[in-house]
Amino acid sequence: MAFTITDAPTKEELESYSAEQLRAYYALKASNNDTLSVHSIPPTVDGVRRRTVDKYGELIAYMSIEDYQGILQGFLIGLVGARRILEIGTFIGTSAIYFANALKRNGVKGGVDGTGHKPIISLDINEEFAEIARQNFVEAGVDDYIEVIVGDANKTLASLSDLTFDLCFIDADKESYRNYYETMVNNYMIAKDGLFIFDNTSFDKVLTFADTPVPVAPDAKPLDVSLGGFEITKEVAISLHEFNEHIRKDPRIEVVMLPLYTGITLVRFMH
Ligand SMILES: C[S@@+](CC[C@H](N)C(=O)[O-])C[C@H]1O[C@@H](n2cnc3c(N)ncnc32)[C@H](O)[C@@H]1O
Repeated sequence: MAFTITDAPTKEELESYSAEQLRAYYALKASNNDTLSVHSIPPTVDGVRRRTVDKYGELIAYMSIEDYQGILQGFLIGLVGARRILEIGTFIGTSAIYFANALKRNGVKGGVDGTGHKPIISLDINEEFAEIARQNFVEAGVDDYIEVIVGDANKTLASLSDLTFDLCFIDADKESYRNYYETMVNNYMIAKDGLFIFDNTSFDKVLTFADTPVPVAPDAKPLDVSLGGFEITKEVAISLHEFNEHIRKDPRIEVVMLPLYTGITLVRFMH
């Protein structure tokens, strides 16, 4: 069942919902709570999404994080007191807009600093997406906070190895997650107690390939956010599974996977 924010179910309707439907309903509510978090949703995000659906269709538009995830990630930025952020996978800029607004709330100023960079560096391989993102940043009033570098992030990352980030959001090609992680950790590109956020780490198919128990409640399910029938290949699932197992055994970090959406892995780097 798809809910909209204007739904106000009666007590009888609520009682008729399955646990999964209730979870989906409250995920949406939590993303749009007028009194709690509406100031956390950047006002331009809806327009960014609508234009993306018009141009590319619903399926590809789902690549952007949803409001709830944006609010959660903004909250984490506040929690770690992040001042410099690296994003791998810009797409049309939704997550970066959330990040920029969270930095603003943290009192971080925009513009190029002594390193020659803006507070958020976002990497994408696709020039067309990057250009749309840049326009969206201007519209959202955050272009002072975000620079997009176009190219294969596996290469771009190596050229940024002198920089240190407080938070890194990894949301691009899943086969490269391990390389992104190793490059950043081995070059101390993530600050002490800095945070990695890896998206999509528990796609259903990844769980199929897991050979060790997944540390979530037995009845836990990803929230019903309807991925529009999007399927990942077996190769991607195996890469993600290998990545999950790799970091679980790394003594340099603390790791927790949130069973939200298609899995969000938080990694605290302690060096
Ligand atoms: C899921 S989307 C990112 C969504 C964005 N973080 C958001 O939530 O709004 C993934 C992006 O990664 C980019 N990408 C894929 N492979 C890449 C690579 N090797 N290097 C850099 N970007 C890549 C794609 O072009 C796509 O725009």
